[in-house]
Amino acid sequence: MSTPAAAPENTLRPTRSVPTPALGWATIGREEEELVLEVLRRKALFRYYGPDPKSPPTMVATLEREMAAMVGVRFALGVTSGSAALEVALGALGIGPGDEVILPAWSWVSCFTAIVRVGGKPVLAEIDDTLCLAPGEITRLRTPRTKAVMVIHFQGIAADLDALSAEARAAGIPLLEDCAESPGALHRGRRVGSIGDIAIFSFQQQKTITSGEGGMVVTNDPRLYERAVRMHDLGQFRDFHARQIPAAEPAFCGSQFRMAELTGAVALAQLRKVDGIRAHCRRLSLRLRARISDLPGIRLRRIPDPDGESGFETYFWVDTMERRDAFRSRLAAAGVPCDQMTGTYAQYRRAYVATGLAHAPGATPFAVGPNWPERGYRVEDFPKTEDIIHRFVVIPVGVTHTEEDMDYIAGVIRRIHAELFGA
Ligand SMILES: Cc1ncc(COP(=O)(O)O)c(C=O)c1O
Repeated sequence: MSTPAAAPENTLRPTRSVPTPALGWATIGREEEELVLEVLRRKALFRYYGPDPKSPPTMVATLEREMAAMVGVRFALGVTSGSAALEVALGALGIGPGDEVILPAWSWVSCFTAIVRVGGKPVLAEIDDTLCLAPGEITRLRTPRTKAVMVIHFQGIAADLDALSAEARAAGIPLLEDCAESPGALHRGRRVGSIGDIAIFSFQQQKTITSGEGGMVVTNDPRLYERAVRMHDLGQFRDFHARQIPAAEPAFCGSQFRMAELTGAVALAQLRKVDGIRAHCRRLSLRLRARISDLPGIRLRRIPDPDGESGFETYFWVDTMERRDAFRSRLAAAGVPCDQMTGTYAQYRRAYVATGLAHAPGATPFAVGPNWPERGYRVEDFPKTEDIIHRFVVIPVGVTHTEEDMDYIAGVIRRIHAELFGA
């Protein structure tokens, strides 16, 4: 397989209008309206009390109950965002100055910044062809200061949890699952979020299900739950929570990340749709992949448990960046959206890693100076991740897509493949 000197002329023109990929927001309708109106009519906007003491607010509480049931865990806690959820989960785990947290280098902004915000040091790890944390990295990077591993279930699939949780367990390191991009996805029949020690979700606009902003922390561990509650509510553990488990932890200085009832109302209606959204996207993605998987020179993303994935994005790799660029420009010319649905890119290419700074000089976990960025934070330290992230093509799949869209996209991919690789 050799790269052509110059890509042949692009002959593709759009013959179908493929919708812009859309997830939960596009399903907003009567269900969300009714729950939001219920909150407004009761004038109870704060989750812990409203104007009528005999009729306490219900939305966030119900969301938490249904979320815990969906994920299959004992406790769920609504918070203001996925980023807040990360800080709450890290706070619950007791991460602070001097502690290290291993996370994949290919991850969202707040996976890194949340660790810095609680005073910990992010330790960047390589990914593999799942686009998630590579097995072996926990063992390679752990030190006596490692206090947690953050596994990110990137865009609708569960990471390789068999290997990763065994590795974390063997090392005695707690595992934080970041399920922001994969609510409802399963690993060997268990929902993501129920396998690690603690997990988080996001309900931001771009996510599978959304309330614009919003997030959730889940765990089976009563101690982590109590600490998460305290972390998100200024150190308090109110009666609402004490009715679930008795307080056993001392108060400490927490933040204020409480979820509002209006957010809870929208998120609750959306949560009830999550499996419908997943089923639709999954069915269409399988159809698309079945129509392109035989193409030589194209390699589909590895999915550790294909039965549990959600199908929001289909990734495939070609051999060179030139072929990737040619593929992308031809897809766009044929009217096929091919932009990633997340703003994820490598942490070591972000400005805050290049400076190593936090909001105040003493708050950075790094020895910022003439030798910064140090080893582990430079592009050249991530050869595997670099090799993986510059040659993939992504086809987002959403709720407004149809089987006909998939057949059209597959046909376009086959034509492009024939042009670029020869029939
Ligand atoms: C993997 C991951 N973690 C955390 C977050 C943070 O969520 P939020 O935007 O709700 O703060 C996101 C959101 O983009 C994400 O993709």
